[in-house]
Amino acid sequence: MPQFKDVIGYEKEKDLMREIIILPQKFPHLFTGGRSPFRTVLLFGPSGCGTSFFIKSVAREANVTLFYLDGEKAPINWDRRGEKLMDAVFRVAAYLTPSIIYLNNIDNYAFTRYSMLKTEFILSVHNHVKRGITLIAGSNNPDGIDMAVRRRLEKRVWMKLPDLSTRKKLIERYLYNNELSENDIMTVAERVDGFTHRDIVETIVKVSKKYTNITVEHILDEFSICKRTDEKVFAEWCRMYGNEY
Ligand SMILES: Nc1ncnc2c1ncn2[C@@H]1O[C@H](COP(=O)(O)OP(=O)(O)OP(=O)(O)O)[C@@H](O)[C@H]1O
Ligand SMILES: [Mg+2]
Repeated sequence: MPQFKDVIGYEKEKDLMREIIILPQKFPHLFTGGRSPFRTVLLFGPSGCGTSFFIKSVAREANVTLFYLDGEKAPINWDRRGEKLMDAVFRVAAYLTPSIIYLNNIDNYAFTRYSMLKTEFILSVHNHVKRGITLIAGSNNPDGIDMAVRRRLEKRVWMKLPDLSTRKKLIERYLYNNELSENDIMTVAERVDGFTHRDIVETIVKVSKKYTNITVEHILDEFSICKRTDEKVFAEWCRMYGNEY
């Protein structure tokens, strides 16, 4: 499990997690009544922006039990089994507090068509997401999230593509076998705008394994087979439903 220090960038997002998960655990008396922290969060952004990696680091940093569920791996025909499973996870998470329930690809749960599952989800959030338990949802397709479900996710955080300084740090962290200068690394960082954290990490690791004397051209060549990510849909969704923090 990664630690916060392994997550490059996302400083504001780490602060938010400290504020809503770590601090209330350390100083519960500060978070009573009106000052109770957010308990439900949505992390949205393109695939590869590192949401799974981030959430694991949060669980490790906060030293809480992580329940990691994935809408993509859930059975297509969620029948009563699905509802029972969801109910069971929330109950166990409530029993094993402090805990985080992470629902990856929340837009992939059949919440709309099989509304019994949606009812179960809403009931579970209402009944179990209390002190010591935080529900976090992840999505690469926030437009696909059911409206009633979206409303239950109070804090909506856009996981953005890495900025220049984050890209530079990612390259430095994962590049080995190299004699590139600071300037060369900066050149690469500038040229890989629009790639996700995962694109950068995977490409840099690949280049490091492939060559002994890495050049800027080697790296840029390898990136030419990756596709840049367009953040427009996320920016638009954020404008409509996101919130600043
Ligand atoms: N902020 C980061 N700092 C360092 N490494 C990162 C960061 N984000 C992602 N990575 C690296 O990229 C890999 C892929 O990230 P991750 O699986 O979390 O992406 P994801 O957005 O959850 O993808 P998907 O949408 O496919 O689920 C991680 O295992 C990690 O090695
Ligand atoms: Mg993921």
